Amino acid sequence: KSGRWAEAVPSVRAPEREGGLQACRRCTLWRDATQAVPGEGPMGARLMLVGEQPGDQEDLAGRAFVGPAGQVLDRALAEAGIVRSDCYVTNAVKHFKFTPRGKRRIHQKPDAGEVEHCRWWLEEEVAAVRPRLIVALGATAGRALLRREVAVQRERGAVLRLEEGRSMLLTVHPSFLLRLPDPAAKAAEYDRFVTDLRLATSFAM
Ligand code: URA
Repeated sequence: KSGRWAEAVPSVRAPEREGGLQACRRCTLWRDATQAVPGEGPMGARLMLVGEQPGDQEDLAGRAFVGPAGQVLDRALAEAGIVRSDCYVTNAVKHFKFTPRGKRRIHQKPDAGEVEHCRWWLEEEVAAVRPRLIVALGATAGRALLRREVAVQRERGAVLRLEEGRSMLLTVHPSFLLRLPDPAAKAAEYDRFVTDLRLATSFAM
């Protein structure tokens, strides 16, 4: 069964059942965001990809990883031989956190409390999708899943065990690749990212 998780999973717990993700008031990020951005993909997907939070374009579109970071992710997934629509793609935090600057909205990293509040939704998704492997894209996703601080460059590329007996692989966030100014470093880091995704798919298949 394929679909957007907010609609696809009927078994959310009591208070949330009333309004679902769009009615979430667990933290205050809903106030400035356009909407909550749910995860998307098949229930039973072998791979689950977890980002940080929706960006500007995701907030407007209501879909995860459709902006510039999503384009990098799409290219890297294709190079790793992974079909994105076979994966469940979501974020650790479901609302866009930003500060306005003129007409632009500048991304703000979610704080530990926001990540902790939103973990409720992530756990629901993991329980519903039951992936073989969860790929944490960057430190925020890693922190949400491991429930501790993570050092991405030190811990990346290895399969880690989660408390609930699930498996996770930590790698960089695609936005990190976009921010690297040096073209050679960018190309090398991109190749490492694709290598991590190849490892993920070999583990999950
Ligand atoms: N960055 C993320 O972490 N998630 C998105 O959906 C978009 C950008």
